[in-house]
Amino acid sequence: MGRLDGKVALVTAAGRGHGEAVARRFAKEGASVAICDLIPVQVLEETVGRQIRADGGQVLCFQTDVAQEDPVKQMVQQTLDRFGTIDILANVVGIAGPTKDVWDMSLAEWQETLAVNLDSVFLGCKYVLPEMIRKQYGRVINFSSGTGKQPLSHRTPYAASKMAVIGFTRTLAADVGRYNITANAICPGGHEERSLELARGRAEYTGEALDEEAFRLGFRATQDNSVIAGRWCADEGFTNKAGGPEDAASIALFLASEEAGNFTGQDINSGGGVMW
Ligand SMILES: NC(=O)c1ccc[n+]([C@@H]2O[C@H](COP(=O)([O-])OP(=O)(O)OC[C@H]3O[C@@H](n4cnc5c(N)ncnc54)[C@H](O)[C@@H]3O)[C@@H](O)[C@H]2O)c1
Repeated sequence: MGRLDGKVALVTAAGRGHGEAVARRFAKEGASVAICDLIPVQVLEETVGRQIRADGGQVLCFQTDVAQEDPVKQMVQQTLDRFGTIDILANVVGIAGPTKDVWDMSLAEWQETLAVNLDSVFLGCKYVLPEMIRKQYGRVINFSSGTGKQPLSHRTPYAASKMAVIGFTRTLAADVGRYNITANAICPGGHEERSLELARGRAEYTGEALDEEAFRLGFRATQDNSVIAGRWCADEGFTNKAGGPEDAASIALFLASEEAGNFTGQDINSGGGVMW
């Protein structure tokens, strides 16, 4: 018996990374999952969709830009038409946005990051919550970041959006608790490859040298924290295990489960070293 048997989940940005891990975990635990991404729907069907079906799960795939209102509205309606309800909403989507200072940044760059990282959370909630309120049951899980709590230099739009996701989630928790709906945020730490990608962007922008080997060591330097070259965005990883989407999926599964019913308004770090 799965922990989410009989439940229906909608998971954004499920084409790869954290969204894929969350969708596959939910499906393995018995949920029917509606998943979306920007990638063509056939590609989503043939990759993540196929894997979920191979594991015995039910899946509905969409190509949806979750920063746009009409597509989100239609995706929610089609999920309701097909699966009858939505019990769990996982707003996983998030883009890194620019790595540069405010005075070098265009308004369009700022707005794109806020639209994808924050408008998407608003829109998902706006269109799914009426069904959750109707049935007096729901689990909302929004993806923030370690950068939702701690600054990461040269990355104001990402930090602003992820800090806002926490504020949104806490306030939503206050508003929907009376309907037996919970709202929580997950804050992944940076995992190695993605953080290295960001560090390269930062080095390019600042002109500072990046020692990639030292950066990688910084990630793994759990015994010798004097090696801090990677600290610009490294999760220190005190458990000496590479963190990543599966850690966040484990937290998402708990938050989506029956047993988390009195657990709301929280922002939970995933990863082996983020402690703020
Ligand atoms: N990876 C990390 O190190 C890390 C660290 C902290 C927080 N996070 C957060 O975790 C979440 C997932 O991150 P990830 O690294 O797994 O993502 P990712 O970059 O691996 O995948 C993101 C997916 O989102 C899709 N996408 C992008 N814009 C979209 C849009 N407008 N509509 C629909 N889909 C869209 C992309 O096509 C891609 O498949 C994000 O909210 C991110 O901010 C990630």
